Amino acid sequence: MSVAAAFRYGESMVSADAPAWARTMAEAHMSPLGRRWTHVQQVARRAEELGAVVGDDLPVLVEAAYLHDIGYAPALAKTGFHPLDGARYLRRRGHERLARLVAHHTGARVEAQLRGFDDYLDEFPYQDSPLDRALTYCDLTTGPSGQPMTVRQRVDEICERYGPDHTVSRACRACLADFERDGAEIERRLANA
Ligand SMILES: [Fe+2]
Repeated sequence: MSVAAAFRYGESMVSADAPAWARTMAEAHMSPLGRRWTHVQQVARRAEELGAVVGDDLPVLVEAAYLHDIGYAPALAKTGFHPLDGARYLRRRGHERLARLVAHHTGARVEAQLRGFDDYLDEFPYQDSPLDRALTYCDLTTGPSGQPMTVRQRVDEICERYGPDHTVSRACRACLADFERDGAEIERRLANA
């Protein structure tokens, strides 16, 4: 079965091996990280359900889901800002499209601004594409141990875990309205599929 056939529009399941390289890459870096690896695998499973939202780009979404937190891997964590470290790693490996998705998952552009990465958008232009929004939705509806959550619950969880003044919390709160608007649109499309 070809990759395209395996990921036909609307299918709820994908072939086990289509995003295998991304899973393998993610597992190599993240399996020692315990529950973060559990979270990543559940984000990828959530992504597999979004064929009705992203159509033929579903394989890219699943790959990005596996790789979105790879910048947390100690071997790759150079700046300490995981979307940037992950995106730079993927760019070095030649995965430009995935690098841009990873660089901008879950409001990272806002957190980059708060952290003083002034050239962030020059280094990784933001597309604000359906794939960007779908990846963020998958991340925000999957808890830190892989449990399903609403977008609001997830942002509350992040703010509680990091503390209200942390840059992660401030960025998530700043993006909450966009997160909820985009999440509602994705869920509307899923319901109508
Ligand atoms: Fe995540």
